[in-house]
Amino acid sequence: MLISATPAWKALAAHAKAIESTHLRDLLGDARRCAALTAEHDGVLLDVSRQNATPETVKLLLDLAEAADLRGRIAAMCRGERINTSEDRAVLHVALRAAPDDAIVVDGVDVVEEVHAVLRRIERFAKAVRSGAWKGATRKKLTDVVAIGIGGSYLGPEFVHEAMRTDPACAKAAAGRRLRFLANVDPIDVARALDGLDPATTLVVVISKTFTTAETMLNARTVRAWLTKALGAKAVAKHMVAVSTNLTDVAAFGIDPANAFGFWDWVGGRYSVCSAVGVLPLALTYGMGPVREFLAGARAIDRHLQEAPLEANLPVLMGLFGVWNSSFLGHPTRALLPYCQALHKLAPHIQQVDMESNGKRVALDGTVLPFATGEVDFGEPGTNGQHSFYQLVHQGQVVPADFIGFRVSQQPRALKGEVVANHDELMANFLAQPDALAMGKTAAECRAEGVPEALVPHKVFPGNRPSNVLLLDQLTPYATGQLLALYEHRTAVQGFIWGLNSFDQWGVELGKVLAKQVRTQLAASRKNAKAAITGFNPATTALLKRYLAPTGKKPKAKSKS
Ligand code: F6P
Repeated sequence: MLISATPAWKALAAHAKAIESTHLRDLLGDARRCAALTAEHDGVLLDVSRQNATPETVKLLLDLAEAADLRGRIAAMCRGERINTSEDRAVLHVALRAAPDDAIVVDGVDVVEEVHAVLRRIERFAKAVRSGAWKGATRKKLTDVVAIGIGGSYLGPEFVHEAMRTDPACAKAAAGRRLRFLANVDPIDVARALDGLDPATTLVVVISKTFTTAETMLNARTVRAWLTKALGAKAVAKHMVAVSTNLTDVAAFGIDPANAFGFWDWVGGRYSVCSAVGVLPLALTYGMGPVREFLAGARAIDRHLQEAPLEANLPVLMGLFGVWNSSFLGHPTRALLPYCQALHKLAPHIQQVDMESNGKRVALDGTVLPFATGEVDFGEPGTNGQHSFYQLVHQGQVVPADFIGFRVSQQPRALKGEVVANHDELMANFLAQPDALAMGKTAAECRAEGVPEALVPHKVFPGNRPSNVLLLDQLTPYATGQLLALYEHRTAVQGFIWGLNSFDQWGVELGKVLAKQVRTQLAASRKNAKAAITGFNPATTALLKRYLAPTGKKPKAKSKS
């Protein structure tokens, strides 16, 4: 039965009408309600008191979780059942951060043992590179890493790298090293990624689950040409390594399988940052210590997901309120607002995790869902976002938001003579914005402040805008792991409730197929300017003609590959 046909769904739909008559201005005055709508685990405080919700809402959402067998679905995922039914795969990113003495058996194999074997190999390799025992083709130490990959083979590693970069211990561990990412097939990205790097001191990590992704493979060939032009063909053995599940194609590319780090088909691309996909580039940069802390943080939330009662379960609460806001209150977008510059790549990563996972149109059995799923996720660190899109969020549309803040900065700073330290200034905004959204400002309040009558409508804030507040102690590698797992599981919870498959991504295929057709046409037209443009609709044919029209200049190739 579709979840929307259950009494629990219908009860929430009715309750949503009733909640319309409440305003957060009133709800937030109730101290008992506020305390009841706050949960904490392992240093992570989640305050959901600014949701358009009463304790009755929470009860009804928990009934919905019951109706969707949320507990059963979480357990099935964590014990390795093939819950990705359209690809017939288990979904076991939790195994990537399991403790060495945990056991998860898939097809008769303890996958946790395999995970730790790869982690140990990465540790040995990273140690060798970092110590200089592993040398480049010219016997120089390799100090820079270019990680080539896209989507899940890029976004997660970059998010974690950015979160660690200014952590003092991580910064010390990475002294003298650089980690660059090359994702886009745009040659401009190649130029940026390689800018200022010396092939003799650069290690290239090609990251691709399938090792067939067009963008990644062209970028890998391009960078291989950059390396071999400077160092000769033999340099590939010392300067290129790979992360993939497809070791056959890794070998065909010319990378020694001994220098390839594997993972498994039960790791979805967007859930792969805790595999060699993220662990290898991060360990090369920071050493294995911080990476193990990061994995431990994710593991702590994995355990919490499986063990905590639903009403005190942070990712479950986040997921349930996601469903409440989108399916029942009709808010199709949501904002991720970390008040921490080191989290500036959180939103792009969670965009893929969430939108590729839950942007679906059918239930697990293929039935077209009668309700919208997934949300448009976007975000920017505060306070930058305040000077960008908060206008719309305060007075335009209702955009449920997650505010994420830390009690202590990675980089504390205080200036003599300033009223507050710099981090307190940041956090003053963090603490004010959720209330500004929730409470708003009435016309009467404007008038009491002496606002001229003509301006009153412009200065009214309707308020009643929902948000979550996540407050942690400090952004450490451990906290980064916690945040990652919280958001991964929020997405899974929503998918489980909606009854869809959060772990496939058929929606990305059509564009790729059409791009292939265009590529063939471009190749033919570049070879013979008179080649007919065929097989496209009139609009695309016109665009192709325009694109292929002579510019007067010949494109200058920088290097031959
Ligand atoms: O965008 C589609 C996708 O398949 C993602 O799911 C994946 O993360 C990305 O492409 C990269 O795939 P691969 O790691 O196989 O290169």
